Amino acid sequence: MSALKQIKAKSAPSLEFSPFARMRRLRKSDAMRDMLRETHLTVNDLVFPMFVEEELDERTPIGSLPGIYRETERTIGPAVKQAWNSGIKSIMLFGISHHKDGEGSDSWRKGGLLDRMVSRAREACPEIVIMADLCFCEYTDHGHCGPLNAHGDVDNDATLENLAMQAACAAAAGADIVAPSGMMDGMVGAIREGLDREGHTDTAILSYAAKFASSFYGPFRDAAGCSLGAYPHARKDRATYQMDPANAEEALREVAIDIEEGADMVMVKPGLPYLDILTRVKAEFQMPTFVYNVSGEYAMLKHAAAAGALDYDKAVMEMLLAFKRAGADGILTYAAPDAARLLENG
Ligand code: PBG
Repeated sequence: MSALKQIKAKSAPSLEFSPFARMRRLRKSDAMRDMLRETHLTVNDLVFPMFVEEELDERTPIGSLPGIYRETERTIGPAVKQAWNSGIKSIMLFGISHHKDGEGSDSWRKGGLLDRMVSRAREACPEIVIMADLCFCEYTDHGHCGPLNAHGDVDNDATLENLAMQAACAAAAGADIVAPSGMMDGMVGAIREGLDREGHTDTAILSYAAKFASSFYGPFRDAAGCSLGAYPHARKDRATYQMDPANAEEALREVAIDIEEGADMVMVKPGLPYLDILTRVKAEFQMPTFVYNVSGEYAMLKHAAAAGALDYDKAVMEMLLAFKRAGADGILTYAAPDAARLLENG
């Protein structure tokens, strides 16, 4: 049976009397299209990732991410407030450490950068939803997402203990949601236990459940200073913990495991090249499902627009809408301020 016949067989009104279906009838005016639109993007869907660098004198533009800044500990408060005033309800915080070591211990130290930046954001804006990225790659001197074993690869179980401490630190500082991004096995369970042990039973976990070893993170690594290569014996990629871009079934298993371990929300990352994964995850689990529109995806549009190849404002809204259509409940995107402005101006 042809595809159209199958659809005809399922849908009630018969098309038998018309020579062909006139789909254009429903597209003929702005009002008609507005009325029949299936998917809507609102500012509530957006999470704005923000960078805070310690020991920085002035907020500094990030060359590889046009329009995005490394905030100082002084400017992060006003920047969060400004995001809130523009309608953005949620931020994800990333620290850029000047106190790196083999384990990334500054990230769980009381009075360390993670503690300070979450506290500053919380003080500046009590109402905003604060997500704290839980990883070590911005805090380790080798740039990997946890301490290394003798083979130069990340030691999974040692990382779990550190994650539990990092999560408790973020929660104590005022994070509403902690978001482990390191793709360690057992990370969600270890974090839940660590949080509950310290009394943070109401802190939610957004797991980067299906995170792929992607080239689209390039500008982020530049921005956050977490490139690999400082240790000669360390692996030069993250392929032993992040997923193979070829694997969809495995992504579903990753998500299932994280839900079992207690994830409140799950994430697919990157976004654009993985819309199929996003759709399948949402359909399979019906969990709050987020997507990370990563640095390379944002940079592609900015650079293409700067080269005159496309209209940034239109392209960015089309991209964000596509995430909603594919099943996302929320979108982490560097375009959040641009989108908030465009949504506000109709
Ligand atoms: C840390 C982390 C990364 C990103 C978010 N958290 C980098 C990585 O895994 O190498 C990438 C975000 C982006 O590209 O926008 N693990």
